[in-house]
This record gives sequence, structure tokens and C-alpha cells, in this order.
Amino acid sequence: MMVKKKAKTTFYCSSCGHQSPKWLGKCPSCESWNTFVEEREATDEPVTFPELASLNKGSHPKSLAEIKNTPPIQGQTKIAEFDRVLGGGIVPGAVTLVGGDPGIGKSTLLLEVLANLSANGQKTMYVTGEESPGQVKLRSERLQIDAPTLYLLAATEVGTIISHSLELKPKALVIDSIQTVTAPESTSPPGSVSQIRQATAHLINLAKTTGIPLFLIGHVTKEGAIAGPRILEHMVDTVLYFESGTQHPYRILRAVKNRFGSTNEIGVFEMTGSGLQGVDSPSHIFLAERPADLAGSLVTATMEGTRPILTEIQALVSGSTMAGIPRRTTLGIDKGRASLMIAVLEKRLNLLLGDKDIFLNVIGGLKIIEPAIDLGLMGAILSSYLDKAIPATTLLLGEVGLAGEIRRVNFLEQRLNEAQKFGFTRAIIPKNNLASADKVTISVAEIDNITELPAILFPKEN
Ligand code: TYD
Ligand code: MG
Repeated sequence: MMVKKKAKTTFYCSSCGHQSPKWLGKCPSCESWNTFVEEREATDEPVTFPELASLNKGSHPKSLAEIKNTPPIQGQTKIAEFDRVLGGGIVPGAVTLVGGDPGIGKSTLLLEVLANLSANGQKTMYVTGEESPGQVKLRSERLQIDAPTLYLLAATEVGTIISHSLELKPKALVIDSIQTVTAPESTSPPGSVSQIRQATAHLINLAKTTGIPLFLIGHVTKEGAIAGPRILEHMVDTVLYFESGTQHPYRILRAVKNRFGSTNEIGVFEMTGSGLQGVDSPSHIFLAERPADLAGSLVTATMEGTRPILTEIQALVSGSTMAGIPRRTTLGIDKGRASLMIAVLEKRLNLLLGDKDIFLNVIGGLKIIEPAIDLGLMGAILSSYLDKAIPATTLLLGEVGLAGEIRRVNFLEQRLNEAQKFGFTRAIIPKNNLASADKVTISVAEIDNITELPAILFPKEN
């Protein structure tokens, strides 16, 4: 006999979706505070094992040989930077979540993508739940979009969206934003975890059964009043986040999950008066305003997927204003990593940094997690500490270990070639990497331990 359970109340973290039977002040999963919201779950009736088997909906196993592969359609969006993060292009039926802070350019980017996809009379559909069609039209005029087959639908009800999609059969579908979409079976308020999850499940079904590629826009919210896009990450095929802030004109789009490609690639865009423009040569923008011969500034090369990017790192070492509590502030660099590098400098080079405030900054809003910039970081700190500038055409590369040993970096040749393209003449590289520097013409200086750095950077003038 089946027992009917009562509707039960569950608490969800609106930031990451973590579930708990009771309210919690701090989420044990994503560690955010005050994000738990109460939601009633629909009643579930237990199903017996034989009943389960009779629920077979008719799908059957296929041999690997029978299954057709659907590779991405290369270069389809005609926005090279977007195709790059997608892993080459759009895969039929793929569901992509595009997240980011309000005002970063999500709506702009996806409107541009749809406009390109609707060239040659192909239909596409943009579902707007936040802005009126008039506002979207205004944006399209600003972007100089001329796409008669791009359809706008102002709707928030998932059934409406699905019925129009089945009728119109668009080549691609954008939902702006998923947080406004409601599902009929959910009794929770719009924007709540269960509404978003259920609406997304229906839309994913639509994409998978029709092969229409689906793009879901998700706002990242700090307050937690509406659930953030993180709760959908495991449901979709690809997750892209705009990671830079809105204070720079540059926008960095990074894949954090991609079932169809690598997650290392980034797309670099510039927000201009007429939309987002892809930046083919990111090194160019990250070096554009670089002051020459400034103590504390130097350039390193970081790999973002298959592409080397030259970035300026700045360090400022100054006398601490608060005795005993030196400040360590970093932008674009992991704070723990920076502390480690500072400790190694203190220990191996006997620098007195305990009474100094240290500020570290990666120019242009890029976040670097690669250890290959360690040597660059240390060089910048040393340069600011000694108040001596490093020649503007010198590049530093290398991972640094706790004993001060300099470890090899991968893709050395690509990094050095990029540096050479931008007029660098000298590179300081790990000794172990020397063999792979054969094919480059830039002059290289090898370094084995951090203790050699001052002499290499600042040879004694006679
Ligand atoms: P938008 O795409 O609406 O951001 P999101 O959907 O992520 O909230 O872009 C918002 C910002 O971009 C807004 O402040 C205006 C600016 N913008 C431009 O600078 N140029 C443009 O061509 C467009 C369309 C927007
Ligand atoms: Mg928007």
C-alpha cells in the first residue's frame, strides 16, 4: 500500500542550492551568509520497484557505433571570442548558462549572437522577461542590428515559451533571464530555487528533444533575494561567466564548465558605444597603458587555454601605517599565493617586509591562477621594494617553490613568441626550461633560485 506523505518544507541556499532540513545562517557548501530560503516541496508518493520498471518511457540502449556525434558548428556565431569559449561553436541542443553581474553585458552579447545566427533568413527567438520588447528593440538599434527574422517574445511562463518555440522552430533560443521564468507546478515565488530549477528542467527538455541550442542568462546576485545561477550549473551543458567587473571597459568571459570543449579558454571583449567587440589580441589591451620604467611594474605571460596573454603586474611596497599589522591587498591574484611569495622573499632574500604594506594588482581585470606568474610577482615586489625599475622590455616567467627554487612552466615557446611579437627583448626563465627556449630568438636569462633574482634584474653598474 502506498503512503501519501505530507508536503514537506525544505531550506535551500539561494546562492548554490545546498539543501537542508532546517534553516542555517551560513551555508556549509558555499559559505555564504543569510542565503537560506524556505520552500515547500511537492508531495512525493513512494513508488514500488516493479512499478518503476513499468514506467519505462520507451528509450532503449544503443551501441556506441550506432550513436551519431554532433560536433560544434565551427565559427557559427561569427563572434570569434564567443565561439572560442564555447569550444569552437554551438552544439545542436546544447544548453548554455551565461552568468554575470548586472550591467556586465549579458543581454548585449546574446542579442548580438542571435542577430548573427539569424542571418540568411534563419529564425531565432529572444525571450525577454525583464525588459519590454521596446527596450530590447532600442538596444538592437544601438547595436545596429538588422535581423528581420529575430523574434522577440515577452513571456515569463515556461509553457508559453515552449509552445512558441515548438511553433516557430528557431535556430537558437535565448532566455533573458532564467530567474524570471516560472513553472506551473511550482508554488514558490518567482525567482526561488524550485521555480528556477523546474523551469530550467522543462527548457532543457525542449532543447534536447528539438535540438534547438538554448542560452540561459542568469544574474549573479549578492543579496540572495533571487536564487543565483550557481544552482543550475550541474543541470546545463556549459557554464560561462563574465568574470571582470563593470569598472573596466574589458569583459572577460570564462567557461567554468563545458561538456563540449575545454574550460581553459577565455573570451576577451571590449564594451564600446555600439556593443561588445571581440579583442583578438588581448596582450595589446593589457599592455596599452603601461608606464615605462616604473618601479614595481613588470610583465609576465599567462596562458589562457591555447592563447598566451601578456599582462602587467604591479606591486606597491610602502611603509605600514599600522604598526604590527601590515596590509596585503591583491587584485586578480590569489591572496594565499601572494602571502606565500612574500614569505619566500622574506626568507630567501632577507627582505624586511613585516612592517610594509604590499599591494598587488593585475592590470585590466584579469584573474590569474597560474603559478607561472610567481616569478613575475616576486620581481614586481622586489622592484618596488628597492625602488628600481625593471627595463620595460624584460619579461619574467617561472613558478617558485617554498625553497625559492624556480620551477619550469609549460608552453614556454608560445609565451616567448607572444612577448617577442610585442617587442620584448629579454626573458628571465627557469633554468629547467632552457631546452624549450631553443627555437626563439628573444634573449633568455636562466634562473635556478630566487636568490639569484636581484643580480639578474639589477646587475651592478660599474
Ligand atoms: P547589458 O547587456 O544590458 O548587461 P546585462 O544584461 O549583463 O545586465 O549591458 C549593460 C551595460 O552596457 C549598460 O550599462 C550600457 C552598456 N552598453 C554599452 O556601453 N554599449 C552598448 O552598445 C550597449 C548595448 C550597452
Ligand atoms: Mg540584461
